[in-house]
Amino acid sequence: MIKVLVVGGGAREHAICDAVCRSEDVELYSLMHNRNPGIMRLSKDYRIAKETDVEKVVDFALSKNIDLVLIGPEAPLEAGLTDALKEKGINVCAPTKDAARIETDKEWMREIVSRYNIPGQVKNRTFDNPKEARKFIEQLNGHVAVKPVGLTGGKGVRVYGDHFRTVDEAAQYAAEVIEKKIGGKPRVLIEEKLEGEEFTLQAFSDGKSIYPTPAVQDHKRLLPGDRGPNTGGMGSYSTESGILPFMEKSDYEEGAMILQRVVEALHNEGCPFVGPIYGQFMLTADGPKIVEINARFGDPEAMNILPIFRGDFVDMCFRMVDGDLSGARIDFDRKATVCKYVVPEGYGVKSMADQPIDVDEEMIKQEGAILFYASVNRKDDKIYTTSSRSLAVVGIGNSLEEAEEICERGLKHIRGEHIFIRHDIGTKELIEKRIKHMKELRG
Ligand code: AMP
Ligand code: GLY
Repeated sequence: MIKVLVVGGGAREHAICDAVCRSEDVELYSLMHNRNPGIMRLSKDYRIAKETDVEKVVDFALSKNIDLVLIGPEAPLEAGLTDALKEKGINVCAPTKDAARIETDKEWMREIVSRYNIPGQVKNRTFDNPKEARKFIEQLNGHVAVKPVGLTGGKGVRVYGDHFRTVDEAAQYAAEVIEKKIGGKPRVLIEEKLEGEEFTLQAFSDGKSIYPTPAVQDHKRLLPGDRGPNTGGMGSYSTESGILPFMEKSDYEEGAMILQRVVEALHNEGCPFVGPIYGQFMLTADGPKIVEINARFGDPEAMNILPIFRGDFVDMCFRMVDGDLSGARIDFDRKATVCKYVVPEGYGVKSMADQPIDVDEEMIKQEGAILFYASVNRKDDKIYTTSSRSLAVVGIGNSLEEAEEICERGLKHIRGEHIFIRHDIGTKELIEKRIKHMKELRG
């Protein structure tokens, strides 16, 4: 029996746990800060603790004789959890602190892709002086993205046209990032604003080579029609062909090549990247450009690819750890997927926490949809919201239309007075808008 510990308590981790449990001869253990009812049910045992409390995670892993650890979120990677577990001789299918810098230090990521001449580069500079930052913003006519260099949970980035319209406003936010040390450091990264459609490409990395998975499109904006503030992601979709309706196969291949080159660069830097790696790309008139590289599965994007993964997930993870994915059995059902998050009312601004949600699990299953719990608490058989995303429903079908329909049928069995869902995700209307946008850009 292989004992696997999954760290993290969101819907992404629920999907990881589900993939672990579909593997042969596996016993699941989990550690999370919340009480995710889906993960708790799948686990032989669990510990409630902060995922970044390295000592507690290591203690729990040792006490349960864990054979393999999987880490969902980025914060424990930055805290050095992988390194600490490896020191105790435990297998970990996740990057070390140094390798995870590709996500946790955006300035270093930009430097690496430039130094290794990796395609998909973006005009950018980093500043610790607000006046200098302003000059660069002026040079780019205010058409910029202003980013803290460190982690902000996807919420610290502001972009021209979405969050500000003038050089003054951009410069003001850049100064704020420096002065308030948003993202942990008194530094700000200014990038040219990219025009296009975003896609996510996740891949499995054994430190030298990658195996890319179906492309996914996430929806960061809170409101239908891509309005409102940026969030952790409101939902996502993928298609039966593995690419997205607005992209060509060559765009996908270019994205995969970029990830492969990043993995080679990290190997060369002496910090090989083992585990799932995530590329966020903007498909522009000029091809895919790198928006960010993450050191983990995406949330929600993990929920699009893991349910259609065929093969032995845990066996594949061991092969990544052993540094050779070549013999792994990896396959994906040729199905479309649509994932929509249920979030508390006010999410992204001021969430209404501690509100009850009625979830009819049996009916969701009968509709053929899949439920993944996120940041909720179960008290006396009822589910309550927290300030973060509550749960996600995934529909899988032979076409996007079918997957979207199944997802919506599942969502009907979730009720609450204070919940919010972006129902437009995966709909024909929104997808046609994206195809049209890309056509216009490519001329
Ligand atoms: P990040 O946390 O770096 O993924 O940024 C959050 C979101 O901001 C991305 O998903 C994009 O939608 C947007 N964004 C980030 N960088 C840029 C850029 N250089 N140009 C346009 N949009 C961007
Ligand atoms: N879906 C965005 C992320 O996981 O970073």
